[in-house]
Amino acid sequence: MTASILPPTPDAIARAVSILRDGGLVVMPTETVYGLAADASNAIAVAKLYEAKERPRFNPLIAHVASFDQAQTEGVFNPKAIALARAFWPGPLTLVVDVNPDGNVCSLARAGLQTLALRVPAHPVAHSLLQAFDGPLAAPSANPSGQMSPTEAMHVQADMGDRVDLILDGGPCNIGLESTIIDVRADTPTLLRYGAITQAQIEAIWPGVRLSDGNPEAPSAPGQLLRHYAPKARLHLNREQANPGGSLLGFGAVDGTLNLSPQGELIEAAANLFSMLRQLDAQFEDISVAPIPETGLGLAINDRLRRAAADR
Ligand code: TXA
Ligand code: MG
Repeated sequence: MTASILPPTPDAIARAVSILRDGGLVVMPTETVYGLAADASNAIAVAKLYEAKERPRFNPLIAHVASFDQAQTEGVFNPKAIALARAFWPGPLTLVVDVNPDGNVCSLARAGLQTLALRVPAHPVAHSLLQAFDGPLAAPSANPSGQMSPTEAMHVQADMGDRVDLILDGGPCNIGLESTIIDVRADTPTLLRYGAITQAQIEAIWPGVRLSDGNPEAPSAPGQLLRHYAPKARLHLNREQANPGGSLLGFGAVDGTLNLSPQGELIEAAANLFSMLRQLDAQFEDISVAPIPETGLGLAINDRLRRAAADR
């Protein structure tokens, strides 16, 4: 089955919104590259998104919103963040801020982090979709992991047409390069990814920007730039039983204190991973985890678990 490509008429936008509300995947044009969008508040939809991209690990995703107001519902904005948002939004700048505890973005979309990458895209089709959807959309570039970002609807149809529900055709992206990413939480903002907005443009608004010393696209060591959530508890992988006084995070027939997916479904397990780890971490000092198959999303789940086990 290949997804339909539709011109962005009001009907097509309405259809896209209903697909997203049902947990489906919609490809949307932005001014930078095409994005693969899912409801950022729906962990199952976000798990499907990782699966469609065949990401070998759970990288945190950018939450796209319609306005600065909506961004403030999702993230906490300090004066630097406000200045940069006012200068460059809507537009190709992504700001990493602290997550707002009252926000809607699920922990899987954040890869368990307490920070959140936010962007208000300028593309009229992305804007209409976000306004009609009225909530945050997680949207990585709409390419299979490791391939080039798509700048035309046809690219997406060729590479992932069988894995998405709808492609909105907004013509070629006029920038064609991903957004610039800046972490604005520290006193000196840190440039995490070069992109459409230059360092000079940023420094014209907020003097002093530190270059990151690692590549956020490929964090070599856990806990460097993308400090992933790591439990305080000791973590043991591939166990079928809890240690005395400890807990077991089950999967499928290996049932435990909690079960990532009693049916043994990887999408459900991915959706539950970070929230269940947190729940167990709050109550136990020792967490054993049932074996997870090394296929499909299981690769990303196991990658995350191995990092969490090593992070201690
Ligand atoms: O132009 C763009 O930004 C496109 C369009 C579709 O908006 N999106 C895009 O998303 O390039 P993606 O997922 O391919 O790249 C997002 C980058 C990743 O490298 C990820 O590690 C980083 O953003 N990121 C997301 N959340 C982060 C966070 N909380 N802290 C640091 N980096 C973060
Ligand atoms: Mg990408």
